[in-house]
Formats: sequence, C-alpha cells, structure tokens
Amino acid sequence: MSKVNIREHPRFNNVFISGSLENASLYTKNVVPGKQIYGEKLIMREGREYRKWNPYHSKLAAILTKNPTTNFLTKNKNCLYLGAASGTTVSHLSDVLEEGIIYAVEFAERSIRQLIQNTSERRNIIPILGDARFPVEYARNFFTEIDLIYQDVAQPNQAEIAVKNCEYYLKEEGLLILAIKSQSIDSVSKSSEVYKKEQKILEDSGLEVVESVNIHRYAANHIVLVAKNEVI
Ligand SMILES: C[S@@+](CC[C@H](N)C(=O)[O-])C[C@H]1O[C@@H](n2cnc3c(N)ncnc32)[C@H](O)[C@@H]1O
Repeated sequence: MSKVNIREHPRFNNVFISGSLENASLYTKNVVPGKQIYGEKLIMREGREYRKWNPYHSKLAAILTKNPTTNFLTKNKNCLYLGAASGTTVSHLSDVLEEGIIYAVEFAERSIRQLIQNTSERRNIIPILGDARFPVEYARNFFTEIDLIYQDVAQPNQAEIAVKNCEYYLKEEGLLILAIKSQSIDSVSKSSEVYKKEQKILEDSGLEVVESVNIHRYAANHIVLVAKNEVI
C-alpha cells in the first residue's frame, strides 16, 4: 500500500492535507502523541504524529474541505469556543492554535467532564462550565483578547447568542464562525429562509458576513457563516 503524503495546507497555518486540495484529507499535528480523542487515525511521518481530522465529526474540518476564502486560523489566535461538547473539534483547534488559548464553554456537565478527561494534557484549553446564552457570567474566566469566536450550539436562537458573545468578547476586526443548524431554529420553514434570517440578525448587529459555507455534505441542514466585527 502506498504511503499517504502529508503536507502543509497552502493557506491554513498548522493544518495538514493529503491528496488534492479540492478533495483533501485533513490532519493536525498531535500535541499529545499517542492520544486519540474520538478514535481518529494517528499517522507517523518523519518523526511527527498526525491526527486525521474527520469532517463528519467536526464542522470546522467540514468548512476547511470547502476551501473558504477567509483565513481564520493562525497559530497565535485566542478563541472562545461555544458548545465544546467532549472536545472533538476543540482538540484539533488546540493542535492548530499552538500559541493561543481556547476558552471552551459547554453547559452539559457530563460533556464537560469528558472534555476535561480528553484534553487535560493540552495546555492551551481552558474548559468553562457555562451557558453560552449568558456571556456576562463567564467573563471572569478570560484573561486574553478574543480573536475568534466559534459557535456550534444547536439552539433555537443561534444568531442572537453569537451576537451577545461578540458584543462582550470579540475584539475589533475579530472573526465569528457560526455553525447554523436550520432544524434547531425552525423545522417547518425552508432551510434557506432560516439561514437568511440568521444572517440578517448578525448584520443588524453590525457584524459583516464575509462568507457563507454550505456543509450539507457532512452535516445535514447546516451552513456556516463567517462574520467580521466591523471597526466603528
Ligand atoms: C453539536 S454539539 C458540539 C460539537 C462540537 N462543537 C465538536 O465539533 O466537537 C453541541 C454542543 O453544544 C452544547 N450546548 C448547547 N447549548 C449550549 C449553551 N447554551 N451553552 C453551552 N453549551 C451548549 C451541547 O451540550 C452540545 O455539547
């Protein structure tokens, strides 16, 4: 069997690919060698261990497979992550943002326990038991400026939750990545109508939506909006 050729992603810092860019498999460098989080494949190449990043398990990986134009990942970004669950995507972000900090907010006690178990050896993750709907309540846990807010909470008012968190925490020209699940908002209207409404809520709050990425292939009824905090 031929060896997989793993190389740097041409645009995204600390993300690695094999195959053609249009049809790439994704990887991150494992900062805790030997440790898997969700049964992902580990591959050794030239003395380094890589973790395969599965777009069916991580919407962030799904976005990257669509080659978005906004470059939202650089290794020194500080990220507020809303809806951390047991740490699948958070752990890959921790590999990528090696000089940044990830504040990982999750409100389910069982999930946060798993998150802590899964990621305790990773030094750039701060797990926070908190409710994304009430951002003011976890403010005291932050000690750096937030460059990037990533939200994946499957709540009925996803855009409003994102806006509140951006108002509290996102620095000027910071970026929001919002995964929108139309079924959690309105299971009767057409998905495209739901997405439009959510986008309008972001725009009315002063965020500039710079990109919309359809990830239906990997996550049913989901799109992802990338928005920028405009300088006033
Ligand atoms: C789809 S899962 C997230 C998967 C995760 N982003 C990943 O890729 O590994 C949604 C998570 O959001 C959490 N969640 C939902 N509403 C929340 C809220 N208001 N505050 C914090 N977490 C919330 C759920 O408990 C669940 O763990």
